This record gives sequence, structure tokens and C-alpha cells, in this order.
Amino acid sequence: MEKIIEIENLSKSFGEVKAVKNISFSVEKGSLFSFLGVNGAGKSTTISMLCGLLTPDFGTINVCGQSSEKVKDKIGVVFQSSVLDMPLSVYDNLKYRASFYGITGERFQKRLNELSGLLDMGEILNRPVGKLSGGQRRKADIARALFHSPSLLILDEPTTGLDPQTRKTLWQVIEDLRREGLTVLLTTHYMEEAADSDHIVIIDSGEIIAEGTPLELKNKYTKDTVTLYGVDEKDVKKLGLPYIFDDSYCKLFIENTSKAAELIGNNRELFVDFEITKGKMDDVFLAVTGKELHGGVSR
Ligand SMILES: Nc1ncnc2c1ncn2[C@@H]1O[C@H](COP(=O)(O)OP(=O)(O)OP(=O)(O)O)[C@@H](O)[C@H]1O
Ligand SMILES: [Mg+2]
Repeated sequence: MEKIIEIENLSKSFGEVKAVKNISFSVEKGSLFSFLGVNGAGKSTTISMLCGLLTPDFGTINVCGQSSEKVKDKIGVVFQSSVLDMPLSVYDNLKYRASFYGITGERFQKRLNELSGLLDMGEILNRPVGKLSGGQRRKADIARALFHSPSLLILDEPTTGLDPQTRKTLWQVIEDLRREGLTVLLTTHYMEEAADSDHIVIIDSGEIIAEGTPLELKNKYTKDTVTLYGVDEKDVKKLGLPYIFDDSYCKLFIENTSKAAELIGNNRELFVDFEITKGKMDDVFLAVTGKELHGGVSR
């Protein structure tokens, strides 16, 4: 697969604070890549270096085979804090942005119509950004990032603070864009959003502490749960696995799904019904960082 981003041995300090420590990763073209970590882990600092806003102390960044400064027009970024001009309307903000890329006149109008349709922004185009709701502003941020038709979209916590319905709408838009071949690099505090990624990198205190596909991470860092119904505790004990027994069911913790299936197959006579639940991305995060990540707040 073709790599759109290649980062090697990237480091950045702010005085005493080592924000990013020698990280390396790559992102495949057309993929959804998630970058996870608690507050202060170094996600936004990495993104700032990726899009050429911060100079790394060490290391290299390649986007489409070139240094990221040279390919700024290939990258669209939705920053954690909106960079739109609050007193200006969405329309004026986008017009100003488009003029940076020489998109004016009919070309501007055409792209505006496309994005306005995609993001359902008709109603808000003439309103000042400062008066928009959080979700409406996020749509305007995304329109700004996409105006010059980049091939890589970087989203730094795009859905933090949005209601579930608006998050769903934004995800639908991102899915549509991905279907057209856009590569998306995302940071998020919502683990279920990361569960759909092609690849996940988890950083803590500026260092990569785990990476892989969601399935690889779940298999490596979480256990499956087998719930047995209509089972006797003395039979469960004999299985020699950690378990929680309740009147109506028993939960057993087991290494992976194939071992769970084996257990079920070999012990059919012990129970009436069963359920196998895979470990969740939340459990992965907790296992590798020792910290919980819950919708924008790490504890
Ligand atoms: N401009 C700066 N000057 C000094 N320190 C900074 C600066 N930017 C970031 N830091 C520090 O670098 C570390 C990493 O910050 P960063 O913003 O990259 O974290 P993050 O993973 O994006 O966190 P969050 O989830 O809260 O957005 C933090 O300790 C932060 O205080
Ligand atoms: Mg951040």
C-alpha cells in the first residue's frame, strides 16, 4: 500500500516539557488513522509539526513523499480550537480561505455549493461564526479545511463536545469523503470512533505505547468475556478460569475468541445458553495507559 504520511524519530520539546519523544509511524493512503492519548499526550503537537506549523527538534516528516512544508496544499486541517474569524460570516471566512489558494469567482461558487450541500450548511452561510452552535461551527471548520480539495484531512478532536446526533452527522460526512478516496487522520477521545479505524496509534507522555488495527489491539490487550446461562458454579470452578458468578449467569474471562469458542464447544453439557463478548477499545486504552478515556475527559 502507498504511504501518504511517513514520520520518523520525531521529537519536540517546549523548554523542559518533552511533548513528543522520538515517535515513528506511517499512514496508508485512503485509510482512517486514529491517534489516541489522554490530555497532554502530544497529539496536537504532532499535528502541528505534520502541517508545518511547528518545526520538529529532531526527525523527519514526509507527506506524499515530500517534506510537509512543500505539500501544504495537499493537507486540510481541522484544528482542536476553531481558527475561523468569529465576527465574520461563514461565507466570508470561506471566501477569504479560498483566495489563499487562488480559488475565486465561479470556481469559488462551485466549490461552495458542493461543500454546502455535503455539510448541509445552507442555513448558516450568512451567519457570523461567533454566533453558531458548536456543531455548526465544526461544519464550517471542516468546510474550511476541505475547500482546496486536499488528499489528506487531519481532524484534531472534531467531535468533542458535540451531541450524539451531530457527531453522527459529521461522521456520515467523513465516511462519504473517505469513499471518494480521502485519507483521514483523527484524534479523538471517543473510543468508539476509533474502533472503525484501519490503524490506531496510542501515545502517552509523548511516546507511542501501542499500535495496530482495532482487532490486533483488542486481541493483544483485552480478554473476551464468555457469559454462560443456566450453569452450576461447581462446574465453572473446574474450568480453572477467572470468573464472576451471579444467580442467573456466570461471566468467564478468556484470552481470545477462538479460545472462547473452544471452551463453548468442549463444554456444551454445562450450560443452557451462552454469549461471547469481545474486549472493547476502552479496555485496550485502559490496559495500555492505566487511564480511562471518556468523551473528552481523561481520568
Ligand atoms: N506551545 C506550547 N508551549 C509550551 N508547552 C506546550 C505547548 N504546546 C503544548 N505544550 C505541552 O506539550 C504537551 C503536549 O501537548 P499537546 O497539546 O500536544 O497534547 P494533546 O495530546 O493534544 O492533549 P489534548 O488531548 O488535551 O488536546 C503538554 O504537556 C502541553 O502542556
Ligand atoms: Mg490536543
